[in-house]
Amino acid sequence: MLKKLPSSVYNPISMFGAVAAIVNFVVILAIVIFDVIMGDPAPYTGIIAFIILPAMLVLGLVLIPIGMILERRRWASDLGEIQPRSFYVDLGKASHRRATMVFSSVTIVFLLATAIGSYKAYEFTESVTFCGQVCHTVMEPEFVAYQHSPHARVTCAECHVGHGADWYVRSKLSGAYQVYAASFDLFPRPIPTPIENLRPARETCEQCHWPDKFHGSLEKIYDHYMVDEENSHWPIRLLIKTGGGSKNIGIAEGIHWHMNIANEIDYIATDERRQEIGWVRIKDHEGKVREYINEENPIEPEDMGKYAKRRMDCIDCHNRPTHIYQTPSKAMNRALTAGWIDKSLPSAKRIGIEALIGEFTTKDSALTAIAGTIRSAYEEEYPDVIAERKTDIDSLIAGVQKIYSQNFFPKMKVRWDVYPDNIGHFTSPGCYRCHNGAFITEDGETISNDCSTCHIILSQGNGEQGEMIAPGGLEFKHPVDIDEAWKESACSECHDGTSQLQ
Ligand code: HEC
Ligand code: HEC
Ligand code: HEC
Ligand code: HEC
Ligand code: HEC
Ligand code: HEC
Repeated sequence: MLKKLPSSVYNPISMFGAVAAIVNFVVILAIVIFDVIMGDPAPYTGIIAFIILPAMLVLGLVLIPIGMILERRRWASDLGEIQPRSFYVDLGKASHRRATMVFSSVTIVFLLATAIGSYKAYEFTESVTFCGQVCHTVMEPEFVAYQHSPHARVTCAECHVGHGADWYVRSKLSGAYQVYAASFDLFPRPIPTPIENLRPARETCEQCHWPDKFHGSLEKIYDHYMVDEENSHWPIRLLIKTGGGSKNIGIAEGIHWHMNIANEIDYIATDERRQEIGWVRIKDHEGKVREYINEENPIEPEDMGKYAKRRMDCIDCHNRPTHIYQTPSKAMNRALTAGWIDKSLPSAKRIGIEALIGEFTTKDSALTAIAGTIRSAYEEEYPDVIAERKTDIDSLIAGVQKIYSQNFFPKMKVRWDVYPDNIGHFTSPGCYRCHNGAFITEDGETISNDCSTCHIILSQGNGEQGEMIAPGGLEFKHPVDIDEAWKESACSECHDGTSQLQ
């Protein structure tokens, strides 16, 4: 055989390295071409094509010079002496020219392929597929909820990693531990929040949502249905004073302005979930400082040092911008409004909620149990209905099963009550962690908790007040008579997301 390359290459180690490199290269190329043709790669092909095979390819390439060095050493020892090695390239010699040509072409091809490969590897490890689907069980709740959220088109990395090399490296280092934890089943269920080292909102959220932007007021309609036989409709139309703005823009008002832009707010939570707040300090745009103590959960001065202070930012209100696990009551309200479930089916809301809140260990057993619970509820309570309205009951079952699949994740022990939502105050304390009337300064000032601080009620209910809009706002009317209880206790003390089922 005519040997065109330096003869030291022709040794078993270098040859093995070269073959391994070529085979890996061809396989990677084949996978990449296949993915381009088929579109949408499967989660594991990315790991194989952009991480494992390239590593083996590099290993193969490294073996080539190692083999060559060993081969030369062997020759030297065969000759009985170690000869000083001299290295020179003489382009006048045909064999040197050929070797240089081969070497430089291979290097260029390899560098090009490495550049493309590293870019693909970077792109892949930042993709939603990699973050959301590779460790399927662990990330299932977050991934599924995300797909039905306002941020479904924003990648996981844009909130969890952000831009810049340092956070990329940090995330891959902590990611390496997570891969280990997932492989050996060492991860907690559910994953605890708040995430300790989440990148600050100013470097993630604020890259897309400019904080100074003035949002104006946001009109939202909350469609409620009672847990009675008629599933009585009780819509509430709110005008939420989101606001925003800055001195330069000129309009400065509302929730965002007061909370985020004009003022700096620091607080101390006495629990890890940041649900029980004991102390709040506000520094306004003139530099004036006020300190509030929670009379219901005071922190003794000597204990102040025990807890970490936190500067309030977007995440303290918007802690569920994308992983939204709806409460059974809210999910049923939505399904009734959207028409997946027929409103005229007696007690559909109550029976649906009862089916959702059972304790299940797997999704499959839950879906079967949901169908069983709903059927037997109708058999017992409404035997005529079950005979006459089979298709409506089937779509109730399908609707409730769909709600379950999108919001409940028994394997990871995830559902609405595991991750309280800090926006609002209906089923979790949210804004009422501070705006509950119990925070007071030494001078007796309190953090406002008047119902019209944050929103006004434009219309409510199914009677006369539901028919017209009151631009100045209405006094809240509770849909069932609970006397003044809604003024005395927070809504979330009674409303836990299941609608007071007895
Ligand atoms: C819009 C920004 C955003 C996007 C996009 C996003 N997340 Fe999150 N994620 C958050 C925030 C905010 C939290 C809650 C932080 C806290 O409470 O400390 C969170 C929490 C989590 C948690 C902790 C458990 C939990 O449910 O709170 C996991 C796991 C997670 N995200 C994974 C993902 C995955 C996987 C994706 C992509 C499929 C993703 N995230 C996309 C903002 C985002
Ligand atoms: C990569 C850009 C991007 C990042 C980063 C991002 N968002 Fe968004 N956000 C969007 C887009 C796009 C929408 C949807 C706008 C629309 O279609 O109405 C949105 C919508 C929202 C909404 C309105 C939701 C609704 O119910 O209508 C909120 C609140 C929000 N984002 C908060 C956040 C928070 C908090 C973070 C940081 C954890 C964040 N966003 C990070 C792009 C982003
Ligand atoms: C004091 C709590 C609070 C803080 C802090 C806060 N927000 Fe909001 N934000 C709200 C409320 C309340 C709404 C009204 C929407 C709702 O009720 O879902 C809102 C609405 C929004 C919307 C949707 C506006 C629209 O018209 O649809 C976006 C986007 C948003 N916030 C982004 C942010 C970003 C980014 C930050 C951090 C710079 C931030 N918010 C800080 C409470 C807050
Ligand atoms: C960590 C404590 C804390 C949390 C949580 C909190 N706030 Fe506040 N908020 C304050 C403080 C302190 C002030 C300033 C005192 C005041 O004006 O009453 C304030 C002021 C406000 C103001 C201006 C009040 C005025 O009188 O002009 C609005 C509006 C507001 N908050 C809305 C919200 C909303 C909406 C939420 C929930 C999404 C929320 N806040 C959650 C501490 C908090
Ligand atoms: C500190 C600000 C703040 C105060 C004070 C406040 N609210 Fe709210 N409220 C909110 C926000 C923010 C939301 C929107 C939550 C969301 O987008 O899901 C909300 C939502 C609601 C809803 C709709 C709930 C749902 O999910 O259907 C009702 C009803 C309501 N508030 C009534 C009241 C009443 C009555 C009071 C006085 C006792 C009050 N609020 C005081 C901030 C506040
Ligand atoms: C003392 C307990 C209690 C308090 C406090 C309370 N509620 Fe209720 N609420 C009930 C009961 C009981 C029902 C009737 C059961 C049902 O139909 O869900 C109900 C029903 C409702 C409904 C319609 C059904 C649903 O859950 O969708 C709305 C809306 C509602 N309450 C809003 C509020 C708001 C807003 C607050 C706080 C300002 C509040 N409630 C405070 C006990 C309470």
